[in-house]
Amino acid sequence: MAALGGRGRAAAALLRRGPPPPGLGAGPRRYRYKEKWAATAPRIPPTRLALHHFDVNYSLQLKDLWPSVRASLLCEQKYGALLNNFSAVNHVPQELELLNATDFVSEARKKAQRSQQAAAAEEVGRGESRSQEGSGEGRTAMRAETVTQAEMSPLLRASITSNIKCYTFPRGDITRFRPARPDTLGLLDYYLMDAASLLPVLALNVRPDDLVLDLCAAPGGKTLALLQTGICGRLAANDVSISRTKRLHQILHSYVPKEIRETVSVTSCDGRDWGQLQGDTFHKVLVDVPCTTDRHSAMEDDNNIFHKRRTKERQMLPMLQLQLLMAGILATKPGGEVVYSTCSLSPLQNEYVIERAVEIAETQFDISIHVEDLSHFRTLFQDTFSFFPDCRLGELVLPHLTANFGPMYFCKLRRM
Ligand SMILES: C[S@@+](CC[C@H](N)C(=O)[O-])C[C@H]1O[C@@H](n2cnc3c(N)ncnc32)[C@H](O)[C@@H]1O
Repeated sequence: MAALGGRGRAAAALLRRGPPPPGLGAGPRRYRYKEKWAATAPRIPPTRLALHHFDVNYSLQLKDLWPSVRASLLCEQKYGALLNNFSAVNHVPQELELLNATDFVSEARKKAQRSQQAAAAEEVGRGESRSQEGSGEGRTAMRAETVTQAEMSPLLRASITSNIKCYTFPRGDITRFRPARPDTLGLLDYYLMDAASLLPVLALNVRPDDLVLDLCAAPGGKTLALLQTGICGRLAANDVSISRTKRLHQILHSYVPKEIRETVSVTSCDGRDWGQLQGDTFHKVLVDVPCTTDRHSAMEDDNNIFHKRRTKERQMLPMLQLQLLMAGILATKPGGEVVYSTCSLSPLQNEYVIERAVEIAETQFDISIHVEDLSHFRTLFQDTFSFFPDCRLGELVLPHLTANFGPMYFCKLRRM
């Protein structure tokens, strides 16, 4: 059994219920055991350390919401089925709709369109009543004012990339999707993923012929979603890990035809160097950073970043995240956009990284950054996901027992 260091014992004492064990509490000196004997103390599983860490930090952040989020993290996660537009099988939507699943992306698109039509109708109505009331000049000024208001409303400006389709079961329905099936050419019909992982891709809002960089791409769920838009001018997918880049290649192989695959440039560089390698190059950059992967850390002891021996790595995460985000900003063309995302609830890995990056971009690189308002995502996707209402910057999907997706934090920056 692995030995616990001084801090390990302190954590053990915190996690253990009941009175302090002999030797750790106050008591006669002769009964206290020596440090080296602690080698026989039980090793605390990383999942328990993670939960303890979350209890301390997230109860302060999420307050009354934390018990429900905690229970959801410990329950089975829900998936979405990202349809593979490259697969020749075309009966999947009907099959999934018969099971009561819906494509939440097209539902949100319809919602945005309805809001835009309602706003336009309201505008026409206002124009008509004004034409009966005021002078021509006054009417023009009032219309200009209304248009400005519409332009300012993110919901009315919302555009959802149309080609991505992802099916989910309704709230409270915990049906599982069948495994993906191959078509005659061997391409699988859908990719199962945490549906909240699509939100950063939708926030990136790829436009025809955009040059797109996915800086931390493996194993490739978001790269695949970017390809499903069918409109990326060029896609560069990078990940520092060679073994994970192999998984990215496998996913591309299983879902994407050769002629499209060959247009994707896959690399295994340290993303932190990317800004220097190809600065001011891309229209859109996705920075989906390594993080504490809260759901995994709460549930799985294998490869858990809360393992004692990974303490330093965990503490250095916000620094690595900041460096990767800075590299993403530097790789973006002026006027281009960066989406930063994590699957952690931690403000230290989310809002604080954004704030620091904006500050460093201004002070050290003379780059002005605008943090975009994504609050319309809450309106458009509220039927599918539960959002944290008090995020200072960006949006955060909270796991919920009726909609057990996430956590997923995403924030969009525009390089001015
Ligand atoms: C959250 S995962 C990315 C998930 C991926 N975007 C997807 O949707 O499947 C974070 C990735 O960052 C990679 N990574 C860690 N450090 C990196 C670095 N310095 N440069 C580039 N990638 C890095 C990890 O190997 C890991 O695959």
